[in-house]
Amino acid sequence: MRPDPADITLHLGDCEDVLDRLPAGSVDLVVTDPPWNLGLRYGRHDDAQPPERYEAWLARVVSRCTDLGARRLVYLPGRHHLPRTGTVLEPAGLTPTAVLRWQRAEGDWEPVVVADVVPHVRPVAPGTFHAPRPGPDEASGHPCPKPPALLAWLLRRTAWPGATVLDPFAGTGTTLVAAASLGLRAVGIEQEERFWVAATVRVAGCAA
Ligand SMILES: C[S@@+](CC[C@H](N)C(=O)[O-])C[C@H]1O[C@@H](n2cnc3c(N)ncnc32)[C@H](O)[C@@H]1O
Repeated sequence: MRPDPADITLHLGDCEDVLDRLPAGSVDLVVTDPPWNLGLRYGRHDDAQPPERYEAWLARVVSRCTDLGARRLVYLPGRHHLPRTGTVLEPAGLTPTAVLRWQRAEGDWEPVVVADVVPHVRPVAPGTFHAPRPGPDEASGHPCPKPPALLAWLLRRTAWPGATVLDPFAGTGTTLVAAASLGLRAVGIEQEERFWVAATVRVAGCAA
């Protein structure tokens, strides 16, 4: 499928503010990679919050997404948060339905949780994707971009034809570029201008 950047919208701002302005019913599923509260330097975002505050914040963002109409969430919670994903999913009315694996190296993997507003008609089979962890993004200094091939693999397994994908933590735009490569519509939100610029450039270039 030929990528079409015209089907990708990228907002600059705090995802809670932007989500409040998006029209109800405008997204079908969320595919995202939130900050993991490990003290990384993103800029405005405080990545070293007390755990309860971090979980409450993420739960608020995810609930806003399901309020908009998203019926599926696919996200990398960070392995250390895996036992506590219920604090994020339950307030949003989501039930975990599958856990996929990103195998970054021998003995080093990260979970990808799929959670649905049940009943959901598109079951996801468990699976593992092998890809090394990329280094920081040279252009923007983003500390932890994800492999484009991982996001394309996730979208192929979890999205469906005609779906609009939302990434409220777009970073350098990896989810959006993967969505475009599969002919899916996507909406991204990123609050740091330098990452948003990197994402905008990548999206604009993905049809070149
Ligand atoms: C783990 S990174 C995502 C990386 C992305 N998957 C990629 O491949 O580039 C999380 C992103 O969330 C952004 N972020 C943090 N808080 C935010 C907020 N309130 N609204 C929008 N973006 C936010 C950070 O600036 C960071 O770029």
